Amino acid sequence: MKTFSLLAAAAMFAFSMTAGAAVDSEAATKALKDNGCTKCHSVDKTKKGPSYQKTAAKYKGKADAEAKLATFLATGPKVKMDDGTEEEHKSLKDPATAKTLVQFILAQ
Ligand code: HEC
Repeated sequence: MKTFSLLAAAAMFAFSMTAGAAVDSEAATKALKDNGCTKCHSVDKTKKGPSYQKTAAKYKGKADAEAKLATFLATGPKVKMDDGTEEEHKSLKDPATAKTLVQFILAQ
């Protein structure tokens, strides 16, 4: 019995390590909803803004991708909507949320 519970504890520990290392997609999905990003973006469909898969492909292999997108989300520059109108992009005040979202988007 003792061996069993030790093994179970080890397995649970290993699992939590893996989950912690991966992108926290549950937190990211929630933050995308809470911040209204889903109004204009989805993972695989172009809405008013590009899909996250498109953005991930655009930045694939670029070393400064994470920094660029973090700045983009922090500053909220003017962007062209898919319907041709111009708007200031939504900005995120919390850098930790921005980081989670950028990592999630780049992992698509
Ligand atoms: C009102 C619509 C709208 C909302 C809301 C919105 N976006 Fe965007 N987003 C856009 C558009 C349009 C673009 C395309 C900009 C371009 O290509 O110039 C864009 C581009 C982006 C890009 C790619 C930037 C690049 O350099 O390629 C990211 C990442 C992004 N948005 C993330 C988010 C996140 C995260 C949120 C929520 C905090 C969000 N967006 C909310 C419309 C929106």
